[in-house]
Amino acid sequence: MNVREAVVVAHPNVALSKYWGKREGEGNFPAVPSLSVTLGGLTTRTRFRWRSDLAEDRVVINGRELTLEQASRIVALIDRVRRKLGLDAGAEVESHNDFPTASGLASSASGFAALALASVRAAGADWDAAQVSDLARRGSASAARSVFGGVVELDAGPTDGRVEDVLAARTVAPADHMPLVVLVAVTTDAVKAIGSTEGMRATMARSPYAEAWLEHAPVAHATLKQALLARDFVRVGELAEANALAMHACAIAAGVTYWNGGTLEALAAVRALRDAGTPAFATIDAGPHVKVLARPQDAPRVKARMEATPGVQRVVQATVGEGARVEGGMS
Ligand code: PMV
Repeated sequence: MNVREAVVVAHPNVALSKYWGKREGEGNFPAVPSLSVTLGGLTTRTRFRWRSDLAEDRVVINGRELTLEQASRIVALIDRVRRKLGLDAGAEVESHNDFPTASGLASSASGFAALALASVRAAGADWDAAQVSDLARRGSASAARSVFGGVVELDAGPTDGRVEDVLAARTVAPADHMPLVVLVAVTTDAVKAIGSTEGMRATMARSPYAEAWLEHAPVAHATLKQALLARDFVRVGELAEANALAMHACAIAAGVTYWNGGTLEALAAVRALRDAGTPAFATIDAGPHVKVLARPQDAPRVKARMEATPGVQRVVQATVGEGARVEGGMS
């Protein structure tokens, strides 16, 4: 029996300017550009084995084995690697998140980034980070960003793109570019009701503001990137919060609602912090949790305020972290 193995760790990321909406057709190309920070402190660890004796792939997430139907997006990515590398082996994947899975904490970003890197390295292939990022994007577009550390950008996909076109993310500033902490106010441990793919599809099909979002997002993205490169924390925070609210307003208008009561309470708490003189800003992904952007020196005060907020179960503190890597220091 021939077994080849790699263990990879990866982190989720939080988008400051959001990807919401896909290009028509196949290939999972985003319709708008996005900018994120990779979140050190929340971790996915994935062990990947290519096994010549395995007829069917096996996928275990947080100790629970998925059916092949439940694992269809994961198996699709593995099939692609098999095809590209000419492999004839089954895959065994064991992945563990130290944070809630599939509830808008971007477990698909760290999960697909870890899966992409681990599957390629387990096969002994020396694909570069851009090739791994393009592979991860096909599972979940935000995962293309988690392959990299620091501040990461993913362009919109080509307008007349083909499935095999390459689109990878890239780092635009290192992890220590601008001192920043992200306090994740977790408002539930439940699995989210609407997956991001379905949420985007419904938004684009039904929201009266879909066109406005698609026009506005690239402009907002460019402004935010500029503020970030200039290390202007307050401007970055203001623009990130506005971007998240615009995305959710567009989605809510289509009946795509990710928020719960705790989300609204947490948003109010962030505004109260600002009113009291602490620069803190909120962003929200496809789930009910509120991610608060703050300066490191304000983190204890912001954390305490968020912990005292009704509907907030707990607060997880993250910093800007590194990209996906093979455990043991190799990449
Ligand atoms: O990559 P997906 O399909 O999980 O979608 C991510 C969508 C958002 O998290 C809301 C925005 C983003 O850019 O990460």
